[in-house]
Amino acid sequence: MTTEIPAPEKKRLYIKTYGCQMNVYDSERMRDVLAPLGYAPSETAEDADLVVLNTCHIREKATEKVYSELGKIKKMKEATGGKMTIAVAGCVAQAEGAEIMRRQPAVDLVLGPQAYHKLPEMVARASRAVGDRLETEFDTLEKFDALPKTREVDGPSAFLSVQEGCDKFCTFCVVPYTRGAEVSRTVDDITLEARALAAQGVREITLLGQNVNAWHGAAPSLEGGAEWSLGALCRHIAKIGGVERIRYTTSHPRDMDEDLIAAHGDTPAMMPYLHLPVQSGSDAILKAMNRGHTAEHYLKIIEQVRAARPDIALASDFIVGFPGEREQDFEDTMELVRAVNYASAYSFKYSPRPGTPAADMFGQVPEDVKDERLQRLQALIREQQTAFNASKIGQTLPILVTGKGRLDGQLHGRSPYLQAVHFDGAESLMGQIVDVEIVGASLNSLTGRLPAYAEARA
Ligand code: SAH
Ligand code: SF4
Ligand code: F3S
Repeated sequence: MTTEIPAPEKKRLYIKTYGCQMNVYDSERMRDVLAPLGYAPSETAEDADLVVLNTCHIREKATEKVYSELGKIKKMKEATGGKMTIAVAGCVAQAEGAEIMRRQPAVDLVLGPQAYHKLPEMVARASRAVGDRLETEFDTLEKFDALPKTREVDGPSAFLSVQEGCDKFCTFCVVPYTRGAEVSRTVDDITLEARALAAQGVREITLLGQNVNAWHGAAPSLEGGAEWSLGALCRHIAKIGGVERIRYTTSHPRDMDEDLIAAHGDTPAMMPYLHLPVQSGSDAILKAMNRGHTAEHYLKIIEQVRAARPDIALASDFIVGFPGEREQDFEDTMELVRAVNYASAYSFKYSPRPGTPAADMFGQVPEDVKDERLQRLQALIREQQTAFNASKIGQTLPILVTGKGRLDGQLHGRSPYLQAVHFDGAESLMGQIVDVEIVGASLNSLTGRLPAYAEARA
């Protein structure tokens, strides 16, 4: 008689991701941790057995989106006769906890960003209707230790979280509350994951952290356990065979140390792109935001970065209409943008977040003033972004081919400056880095041509 070990029952998983890249990474890890239980990805929420919303709390709109989505998913759950399990993960879960289940009783599980390794256990408990349905403890390193060491990756570019949490406490921001204190993974741990990615064909690794350049992890065990900073980590990862491109995001101006700046000049794998949010160009507003730097300090860093890597593309985040922002303060922001000349930037209207100091500050700015300032800022940024993209026309750039384009025979890839590039080419080039001549540019992308390919088809 043979005893057959039954394969895990096939179940369908649907994860919807909101917010930043750290959530994108976390969603992939949730998929990894659930795969051994028989969960395979589902295209739609309707036919999923388990639906996870990985949420963002950064602005009011982001949080509200989650509740309206939950309303829709509740109806789908009813249509299954209640068989669907609904989990809310991410920063709204951390911030609102059990309140979510009160507001939307169809929710079965609520788990914060440090609890993903407990997901299988929680899903099992939910199906038996016993035990806790809420996990919002902070234990970042336990999470990383407990997550599977292998990862399923899709394509040649991958995220790798090296740092979580934030100790900066900008007065507008919920992240220090939803992600907890700054924690860095060790070099050994990160190297293991980076090697596994490279072995699967990953050529570009983006190191992630809420404050990634504050990363300070234990050095490799062979090197006596001292601490490294991010520049050293980037140089180390650049030596892993197969890894040809390194990026990191998001950084804080105060943690932009000399060594990291130097690495941009001496490590060819470090891509010439830096997202360094400044938020405002007014020193009074920067102070009220508790950013810990002035506009001049920021511009000095930009100068140093450009000295190390003259062609570097610069990006930033801005908040307009922070409490107390006068027309002159906003003009200072516009002036800073003109001085830097960005390749791209994100800008947001200030959104008061419960529990953060700025929400209770005097001088809240009326919505129509915020709207008007946002439009002026975005027009300037669009102008700079279009000009930056156009400056690449005529150049031949190494493009990492990340997938198929929208049109037949078209490929999609990424330039060293993080620009999207479309060009005609054979599917066999997927995952490779190829030289592409840039022939056109618009606000959001470049078009290119593969010289040999175009000739062969002519
Ligand atoms: N850790 C990163 C950013 C995290 S949040 C950093 O320090 O730069 C991403 C962006 O959202 C921020 O840079 C900021 O521009 C914006 N943001 C954060 N809180 C906000 C709020 N209350 N209202 C509007 N925008 C906000
Ligand atoms: Fe938020 Fe400031 Fe921390 Fe960035 S540095 S995550 S904006 S508190
Ligand atoms: Fe949002 Fe949390 Fe990221 S609040 S931006 S998902 S850290």
